[in-house]
Amino acid sequence: MSKHDLYLYPVWLRIWHGINALGILLLIFTGISMQYGSIDYPLLPFKTSVVIHNVAGIVVAIGYVFFLIANHFSNNERQYIPNYKGFFDRIITQAKYYIFGYFKGEPKPFPITKENKFNPLQRMSYITLMYLLVPLVVITGLGLLYPEVIVNKVFNMGGVMLTAVLHATVGFFISLFLIIHLYVASIGKNPLRNYKSILNGYHAADDH
Ligand code: HEM
Repeated sequence: MSKHDLYLYPVWLRIWHGINALGILLLIFTGISMQYGSIDYPLLPFKTSVVIHNVAGIVVAIGYVFFLIANHFSNNERQYIPNYKGFFDRIITQAKYYIFGYFKGEPKPFPITKENKFNPLQRMSYITLMYLLVPLVVITGLGLLYPEVIVNKVFNMGGVMLTAVLHATVGFFISLFLIIHLYVASIGKNPLRNYKSILNGYHAADDH
């Protein structure tokens, strides 16, 4: 470790991230099993999937409330405030870097600092993820766990059906996020560096 390494991920964030990542992976696996597994060839027995999905869902929901509170009372929340100044230019610059610049060895257009640890694309996707997609999947999931709270009909469509469709759609987008997240996290001087950072808290100095 060098003295120029940046301490970006405090202990609470790393604990939340680890539990949340494991929970979401279990939710995706059991969710796919329930949705697509046939009775004769389930990925996992249906009842087992339901139990794991419910338990992991409750853990992720509690974790989410913890994230909201800890993020708010720590300095980390400022990383999640949208910056609209030159928004599209900055998004395009970062996208160009991911598509071309990175492969040509160009320097990062938005170097990582303690004040600004996310590049514009990361900031936008983390805000969408943590303040739109995760709360939506948690709320619709709780609705499906306690269907008596769901309104019976919305425009002549069953409320439970609509909630289930919304839940699965948001789950799909979170799965998509995860694939991109894992790829983007591997970008850098060494593909494993960022994975190490989210475990030990430090971002390597020669990779800002
Ligand atoms: C196996 C699963 C996962 C791995 C290996 C992983 C890896 C990482 C890494 C390396 C970082 C730090 C670098 C960066 O900011 O890009 C990070 C940050 C982050 N990850 Fe993940 N992740 C996983 C799953 C998830 C899931 C399921 C979510 C949410 C649904 C998530 C949300 C986040 C957020 C919000 C941050 C930024 C935290 C902050 O600094 O405020 N990750 N992850």
